[in-house]
Amino acid sequence: MSEPFPSQLHGDGAAAEIAIRPLVYPDLPEVLAIERRVFPTPWSLAMFVLELSKQTGVCLAAWERAPRDGPDGAAAGERLAAYLICSRYDTVWHVMNIAVDLRRQRMGLASRLLAELYARVGEEEARFTLEVRRSNAVAIHLYEREGFRAAGIRRRYYQDNGEDALVMWRTPATRRGSLSDVPNPGPV
Ligand SMILES: CC(C)(COP(=O)(O)OP(=O)(O)OC[C@H]1O[C@@H](n2cnc3c(N)ncnc32)[C@H](O)[C@@H]1OP(=O)(O)O)[C@@H](O)C(=O)NCCC(=O)NCCS
Repeated sequence: MSEPFPSQLHGDGAAAEIAIRPLVYPDLPEVLAIERRVFPTPWSLAMFVLELSKQTGVCLAAWERAPRDGPDGAAAGERLAAYLICSRYDTVWHVMNIAVDLRRQRMGLASRLLAELYARVGEEEARFTLEVRRSNAVAIHLYEREGFRAAGIRRRYYQDNGEDALVMWRTPATRRGSLSDVPNPGPV
């Protein structure tokens, strides 16, 4: 299911090829570097190690291979561009973390990672859930386009600023526009 660098991204002028592979422990230094660039309250190394240690989860990395040195001075070679962490709790898949490095945002990489997640889970009836900051309009837009629907609020979920989390689900019903198979939907 992973790809041997077949597809191209064009962002900073230099074509880069993308491959999606399982995330592994040696990737974590590059994961942490992106995590610290894109999140106000980044996960710690221990949090990533814990998620990777779970046998039932799906953790993915999107690698770019720049065929030549980029105009930003970056050397040719492989660089981590994005990652996704998803855990399984009973019958529900919980998307715990998804991030795309700043220079690779708005190129469809998050959608590519989610597509790979759905493919690896491999069940048409699978249910996915996640929490997202109410102010994160870009992520909410992405998730809605992916068939997620808001189904509740967790008040003051984020400790750094007391922001509420929107709880979103992607289920067979939400993909048809209803919340009928979402457990305990609440007002949003
Ligand atoms: C949210 C995030 C994962 C989206 O990744 P991405 O690869 O840029 O997403 P995509 O390219 O698939 O684009 C998703 C949609 O958001 C839109 N979008 C992406 N970045 C945007 C921006 N800065 N401003 C406005 N819209 C934006 C895209 O236009 C696209 O919608 P469209 O195709 O209908 O036009 C990425 O922005 C990111 O890593 N953000 C910081 C970390 C984060 O917030 N993670 C989610 C935590 S719940």
